[in-house]
Amino acid sequence: MSTCESLTIWWDGGLWLIDQTLLPCKLLPIRIKNVRQLIDAIKLLRVRGAPALGAAGAYGVALAADLSRTSNAQEMMADLETAADMIKASRPTAVNLSWGVDRAISAAYLGETVEEIRQHALAEAEDIALEDIRINKLIGKNGAKLLDDGDCVLTHCNAGRLACVGWGTALGVVRSACAAGKQIHVYSCETRPLHQGSRLTAWELSSDKIPVTLICDSMSGSLMRKGMIDKVIVGADRITRDVVFNKIGTYSHAVLAKYHKIPFYVAAPLSTFDRQHEESDIIVEERDRDEICTLGGTRLAPQGIDVYNPAFDATPLELVSGLITEKGVFRPPLMPPI
Ligand code: MRU
Repeated sequence: MSTCESLTIWWDGGLWLIDQTLLPCKLLPIRIKNVRQLIDAIKLLRVRGAPALGAAGAYGVALAADLSRTSNAQEMMADLETAADMIKASRPTAVNLSWGVDRAISAAYLGETVEEIRQHALAEAEDIALEDIRINKLIGKNGAKLLDDGDCVLTHCNAGRLACVGWGTALGVVRSACAAGKQIHVYSCETRPLHQGSRLTAWELSSDKIPVTLICDSMSGSLMRKGMIDKVIVGADRITRDVVFNKIGTYSHAVLAKYHKIPFYVAAPLSTFDRQHEESDIIVEERDRDEICTLGGTRLAPQGIDVYNPAFDATPLELVSGLITEKGVFRPPLMPPI
């Protein structure tokens, strides 16, 4: 696969991705030359969003195989296992990262020679990438039925094509509804502290000419009270037996939606479900204090102030009106079949 026009991450003689930290100012592809650079890109959110991280993890294994210079298959697999552990540890909450790495590693084990290992790892990563777009279009088709012509949809963070390989999960639902001829207006929460809503969702939707209005995160309750929101749709980083982990701020929108009797939907592929675990088992990534204390190099808070900066929160499934997946829409406590 190639081209940055519609893909977030792809292989073209090497690993490429759109550097999302430069948006909305620049749409710039960067070449990832080694596993260390991929890990930095993941930690800095140059590539981000659960499904995109799944592909990034698998391509990371393919990259490690491509760069390994050994001619011994066992040694190569040892190199790949080391790379796999490092990649998985780079962001612990989004389950797709480990899922993508593990899929590529299992495929690599099918190779008997180093060349076969390289081929299997890359083929698996390419499959995951293509599959992601196909699955997102199914999520879109299933979710579009829940949206009525003229609906105003609130979303948080970015669960669009930039969070995936293409099309998107929550924004994929909006895209599919628009493609089916419905008029949908999106309210995009800016998503403090890293502004994925204003930098990415607002950019993505306006580039596609889908009507979008940017709001601060704290405005959602007021808009709901004024009757300006018909539905909420967000993505997910991990769905356990009891909660949906998603970008910090999601839980507040879910509680507010419940109070105002507004449907709250979560759109995610089956690869984001983690039925082996519950909320208390999961590590929520805590990020650097400067993400809150500074903006574009300008200090926003007193030097040395105490800061708490979790990247994600947990929304109990009882607040979720429907889980929109490629297998259909499931109303908790109903979950999709494995
Ligand atoms: O920290 P990020 O930008 O990787 O977090 C991503 C999210 O939380 C998104 O909201 C998204 O729903 C998950 S990916 C479709």
